[in-house]
Amino acid sequence: ELQSWTKDKITVLSPIFCCKNEDSIPEQIILGSYPSLDEEEALKILDSSINAYNNGNGAWPSMKVEDRIKCVEKFVYLMQDNKDEIVNLLMWEIAKSHIDSEKEFDRTVKYIIDTIDALKTLDRNSSKFLKEESIIAQIRRSPLGIVLCMGPFNYPLNETFTTLIPALIMGNVVIFKPPKHGILLFRPLLKAFKEAFPPGVINTLYGRGRTVASALMATGKINCLAFIGTSKAADSLQKTHPMPHRLRMILGLEAKNPAIVLSHADITVAVKECLLGALSFNGQRCTALKILFVHSEIVNDFLKKLSDEIEKLKINSPFEDDVFITPMPTEDRVKYFLELIEDAKMFGAKVINKFGGSYNKTYFYPTILYPVNKKARIYHEEQFGPIIPVVPFSDIDEPLKYITESNYGQQASIFGSDPDEMAKIIDALVNQVCRVNLNSQCQRGPDIFPFTGRKDSAVGTLSVSDALRSFSIRTLVAAKSSDLNKH
Ligand code: G3H
Repeated sequence: ELQSWTKDKITVLSPIFCCKNEDSIPEQIILGSYPSLDEEEALKILDSSINAYNNGNGAWPSMKVEDRIKCVEKFVYLMQDNKDEIVNLLMWEIAKSHIDSEKEFDRTVKYIIDTIDALKTLDRNSSKFLKEESIIAQIRRSPLGIVLCMGPFNYPLNETFTTLIPALIMGNVVIFKPPKHGILLFRPLLKAFKEAFPPGVINTLYGRGRTVASALMATGKINCLAFIGTSKAADSLQKTHPMPHRLRMILGLEAKNPAIVLSHADITVAVKECLLGALSFNGQRCTALKILFVHSEIVNDFLKKLSDEIEKLKINSPFEDDVFITPMPTEDRVKYFLELIEDAKMFGAKVINKFGGSYNKTYFYPTILYPVNKKARIYHEEQFGPIIPVVPFSDIDEPLKYITESNYGQQASIFGSDPDEMAKIIDALVNQVCRVNLNSQCQRGPDIFPFTGRKDSAVGTLSVSDALRSFSIRTLVAAKSSDLNKH
């Protein structure tokens, strides 16, 4: 109904350029539009959400867990009818390859089903009684209230649902703002939301984040912010809250995950994993490997093999079979990559691979930069794209110092074959990051594993069961034992 409230619309452009006919120049495809709500309209959504939580339609937060589970089961069943359309929209809106778009959809369905299973166990565990000092209390797991969920463009469906579903199933009322790239794919789901859930418990917030999300935060009535995206956007949202220090938040932010390739590493394995880690979905993953420290004894061999592997990658539209590198969301991203490369060159780096640094509109060719100096921007900045900065080292203290001093602390990978040397590095790294990957790339999954980070990388932990805990609070119903005995 909201679409009729507002006069303004925001146009959604695909990252993919097409020619209208044989002689025309390629143009960016217009995919559609969505309403741009103003502050007043956003606040109406908040009011109706508060109403749905406190009294309207009454029942969502106090509904029996089994009944809320039934709603989510119905939703996930209906969602699967829309798979083809959602997968297609993922390809058009964010240029994710067909195979990866399907994986994102299937992983989301599995996440929802696993969440339901985890809740069944969590609920059993939490309906225990406590008895101490003549007080007997039942512990309940209750919702927080109104949760604002915002997911990122690189996993618009999956990472929106990794907070939205657990928040909802725990009895919260959810307002979710889809990312600006990856927004139209929610359209086929609106009908499923409506069919599966009571009115008012799930609300879509359309518009510019700075206007609509900030307006909600400024009221102080959002009980929890679940945000996955850039640290800058999270900071500015948090600052609009009247008491930011009291706000409950689940944040999945930036990272600069390093790989350390030791002299005794299996180079073939290290190259394969570093390539996947750095370039899957064009490097647009918070878990991507964003800087490689390679031992100087093997660095030349490593660079040669990595360049050869890059040449085998297929770069094309997401609709082509076996495509690996696809367009970036905007041409501005490409400009940013070129700036990073120029800057690294000023500090002595060279583009190592054939075609590295080349581009065409939203396409950007994977680029290896070597040797990257600590003064270069890419040594510290999260590139979120297909550039691989490589730093040679001969003393392990250099990569360890990098990780210790970094603003980020999500994950790291180590490649090697000497268990004693690796054990010492693991012991140092587990105090600095939240996952150490041995002879493999960094990654979030499987989704039942805890996923978090230190410093500017995350607040709170996401996993199927951690999310259920994060979006709930333990409340007590307590009585004097003597009174209970009497009645
Ligand atoms: O962008 C951040 C995602 O959490 C990465 O997830 O490792 O499964 O690709 P992934």
